[in-house]
Amino acid sequence: MITEVKLKDIFYRYQEMEHPIFDGLSLIVQSGEFVTLVGPSGCGKTTLLEIIAGLIADFSGDIYLDGAKKMPLGQVSLMPQEDLLLPWRTVLENGSLPLELKGQRQSDANQQVRNLLREFGLDGFENYYPHQLSGGMRQRVAFLRSILTGHRVLLLDEPFSALDALTRLKMQEWLITMWQKFQPTIIFITHDVEEAIFLGQSIYIFSMVPNRKLKHYPVSFAYPRNRSLLGNPDFVQLRQQILADMVWGGAHE
Ligand SMILES: Nc1ncnc2c1ncn2[C@@H]1O[C@H](COP(=O)(O)OP(=O)(O)OP(=O)(O)O)[C@@H](O)[C@H]1O
Ligand SMILES: [Mg+2]
Repeated sequence: MITEVKLKDIFYRYQEMEHPIFDGLSLIVQSGEFVTLVGPSGCGKTTLLEIIAGLIADFSGDIYLDGAKKMPLGQVSLMPQEDLLLPWRTVLENGSLPLELKGQRQSDANQQVRNLLREFGLDGFENYYPHQLSGGMRQRVAFLRSILTGHRVLLLDEPFSALDALTRLKMQEWLITMWQKFQPTIIFITHDVEEAIFLGQSIYIFSMVPNRKLKHYPVSFAYPRNRSLLGNPDFVQLRQQILADMVWGGAHE
């Protein structure tokens, strides 16, 4: 299973657009790393995830997976900006979908999902349909489904942006415990600087298009992290620094 992703000199322009979104962009995400990418609306965050997921293929530049140059379609798991649960399937049936697609017997697939329900805060909800769940629960089902694809690289596109502040904080803490337990490589997109610092070991800042070089900030706070970190003076200072960089256009070095 793929665990490391490297982008080299990516150039991409949507046909309809005059300017490229990426022009010579490079990025390395190491095995088991939790990386957050932060930037304003329209800067190309979703586009980059679609390139890394292999959904966009007409770019120039190279993608290396575990050191080998190859196309990533089907090798990594993308959780899109909307949760995309199937409305006619229950929690159990949505969760077991990737296992069924791999040809597992339905009873085995269901059992594997049941084994994870408690950890994903879905105990007792296995027969609920998506419309009967809260936003946070729907995100947890989507995340459970991503984990069960078996892929070791998870691409998460603003999964918590529609949640209220408290639910969001709980989901962030929960995601950290899940990351520590399953140890996937995570590339997490957000437009929220605080969320990016709270979650990531490494933050990359998008500028306005075209993105040439993403400014990198290492984040050294120990895990597991919890909400008390938000008041830590080093945390507050880093947030100010990143915001200033984004506002004053310091993203290009
Ligand atoms: N399929 C498409 N065809 C043409 N242009 C597109 C397409 N998808 C996105 N774009 C344009 O590319 C730019 C980047 O879009 P993208 O969806 O990657 O931004 P984003 O950073 O994810 O924004 P948001 O935070 O709002 O989700 C935008 O200007 C958008 O209009
Ligand atoms: Mg987007």
